Amino acid sequence: MAKKVILAYSGGLDTSCAIRWLKGQHFEVICFIADLGQNENFTTIVKRAELAGASKVYIKDLRGEFINDFIIPSLKANAIYEGKYFLTTALGRPLISKYLVETARKEKAEAIAHGCTGKGNDQVRFEVTASILAPELRIIAPLREWEFKSREEEIEYAKKYKIPIDVSKKKLYSVDRNIWGISIEAGILEDIEKEPPEDAYLITKNPDYSGRPPKYMEIYFERGVPKKINGKTYKLIDLIETLNKTGGLYGIGRTDLIENRLVGIKSREIYEAPAAAILYTAHRELENLVLDRELSHFKELISLKYAELVYYGLWYSPLKQALDGFIDSTQKYVTGSIKLKLFKGNCIAVGRKSVNALYKKELATYGKQDKFNQKLAEGFIKIWGMPYQGKFKNQNLKIKI
Ligand code: ARG
Repeated sequence: MAKKVILAYSGGLDTSCAIRWLKGQHFEVICFIADLGQNENFTTIVKRAELAGASKVYIKDLRGEFINDFIIPSLKANAIYEGKYFLTTALGRPLISKYLVETARKEKAEAIAHGCTGKGNDQVRFEVTASILAPELRIIAPLREWEFKSREEEIEYAKKYKIPIDVSKKKLYSVDRNIWGISIEAGILEDIEKEPPEDAYLITKNPDYSGRPPKYMEIYFERGVPKKINGKTYKLIDLIETLNKTGGLYGIGRTDLIENRLVGIKSREIYEAPAAAILYTAHRELENLVLDRELSHFKELISLKYAELVYYGLWYSPLKQALDGFIDSTQKYVTGSIKLKLFKGNCIAVGRKSVNALYKKELATYGKQDKFNQKLAEGFIKIWGMPYQGKFKNQNLKIKI
């Protein structure tokens, strides 16, 4: 009996050739397709896997788990990598890897495999996760090992083995998509001096498009989790899909980033994530209203670290788990509504309301109702500045009067 391998299968050229290639290495190949909302025709790709030589194909709808256990925690954390990336691709990898491990156990397979290249972050995320969860499993990365030097060679190979590949349309970019957004790289985008062409974007309209008037919407959160749009309750999956659609019409959530990969290279990737952009804006705004200054500032440091851990493939790590504990304890205050204005690629918070609001109009106002005792400020300032009094009195201030 041949040894079994569980391959994370996407339906693309690389993983389809990988099925055949692994068979050539004397494996029985079992494919695992994760539905993370990538909008694929699964019937077609299951058939493709079988024709390429898979002995069995698992397909699993993981959207619910992806949203509840990966997307929502990172939204609560405001995790964003290098100021621009909502970690769309990065968040999916540990989940897929976990299912590869589970499938391997069920099938008594000795190895798992993926279709990532040896230059990217995703190989790291898949493999580190697998080694954390199941160190006994062997991991195979065909793309790091096989002999093909170009896409053309792979296409030749696919033809030779009658692997049904759709090569009619020329592939301009490398795209990874799920319900939280789209990552797009390669092709002309490698020319970093050039603006990305419009055809690179899949779900957002060009924000220059001026015919659309501003749109207002209100998002209601309960303990950090979005629940309603304009007063109507949504299931999370529908809420995200609705915001992707509406945000996409306004060109919201496009970013163009030169990012630091784990393997030490800088690369350019563009992203589309309308729902994420809208929800992050609203969530942050609500936190500004309900978290006290120290908690809020400290949480910003945590956000940075959290994003790094996700990007680095350390989702299943003790630090990430501990940070979740901290973040969850901050979210008990994060209930309320944020009014947003969507216009020409921008999503701006313009109004806010919460039972936990720490904003007190009678303290902030410059009007008649002012309850703030300004006389107390004098003593406060003296004590606050006391440790530093006169510290730089002999320094040349370099001003000419
Ligand atoms: N740079 C992103 C990351 O490392 C996305 C990687 C996948 N991108 C792609 N176009 N296939 O998370």
